[in-house]
Amino acid sequence: MELPQSVRIVEVGPRDGLQNEPATVPTETKIAFIDRLSATGLPAIEATAFVSPRWVPQMADNAEVMAGITRRPGVAYPVLVPNMKGFEAARQAGATEIAVFAAASESFSQKNINCSIAESLERFAPVMEAAEQHGIRVRGYISCVLGCPYEGDMAPRAVAEVAARLFDMGCYEISLGDTIGVGTPARARALIDTVAGKVPRERLAGHFHDTYGQALANILACLQAGIAVFDSSVAGLGGCPYARGASGNVATEDVLYMLSGLGIETGVDLEAVIDTGRFISDALGRRPASKVSLAKRG
Ligand code: HMG
Ligand code: MG
Repeated sequence: MELPQSVRIVEVGPRDGLQNEPATVPTETKIAFIDRLSATGLPAIEATAFVSPRWVPQMADNAEVMAGITRRPGVAYPVLVPNMKGFEAARQAGATEIAVFAAASESFSQKNINCSIAESLERFAPVMEAAEQHGIRVRGYISCVLGCPYEGDMAPRAVAEVAARLFDMGCYEISLGDTIGVGTPARARALIDTVAGKVPRERLAGHFHDTYGQALANILACLQAGIAVFDSSVAGLGGCPYARGASGNVATEDVLYMLSGLGIETGVDLEAVIDTGRFISDALGRRPASKVSLAKRG
């Protein structure tokens, strides 16, 4: 299969990247971070999560973040929503795109959202209906697609079942999450080929955490399997509170560098993304976890 000519990057740094930070990141910093990201040409920036503040305290300022950002025309600002309570709050905060999130593994579903996979899909049904009524687009996530911290390897067919359910419910795109970054390219490829039996490839996205350093290799395998949407976090921020040892998402800078080398268009300014990665890393008091950023700027 030929590589796609262009790729859409979904920047998840402000949500996936920050959700696991132990120290509260000031709301002003989050707003400045998102506004800087939207000036880089990124088409989608996941801004925050309307989840329980007791479960994920870092996202408690979700409404303030949504109110504070300057929305750039043409940029999507999806937010995570687990249930109707989250949907209502997101809608009131002016969200025009949301993301529901399920898992391929029962144990992870329980740990992450306190219910079974089937129950989570039942909770999403009214959310999908309300979203449609209000003209809000819905993206779907599936976690643990290549491995679960509690159950080990996941069968691609189990992932395909959940993907089909989310797609049939009306999600416009399904993002396949290697939450703990254990996948390797041949397995990533096999997963895509199986899920594509249920959901069209152009409706699938890859979401790779880089825990085992495999994320770029997995993205290349997915590109070769016809996938053209990838989630990433500037400066490689991130982790998941319910997946011990999970490191950040693949760094946006590193994905952009690889795609540019492959001659694939993204419309994103790498240097501006590096600047933004430096901004948020300085705010967090650490060096960026992006090899490209370190190689170019030290
Ligand atoms: P629960 O405790 O079962 O919920 O949590 P509940 O319905 O029984 O409600 C309990 C309390 O939470 C109540 O408050 C509700 O009002 C409140 P109380 O009466 O006790 O004061 N509540 C809420 N508050 C604010 N917003 C809401 C909300 N819902 C209920 N939306 C729940 C269930 C889903 C809420 C909880 O488990 C939760 O918030 N989980 C979020 C977990 C999370 O955000 N995980 C990280 C994101 S997923 C991820 O990172 C993976 C991904 O990146 C892809 C990948 O890498 O694989 C997407
Ligand atoms: Mg994630």
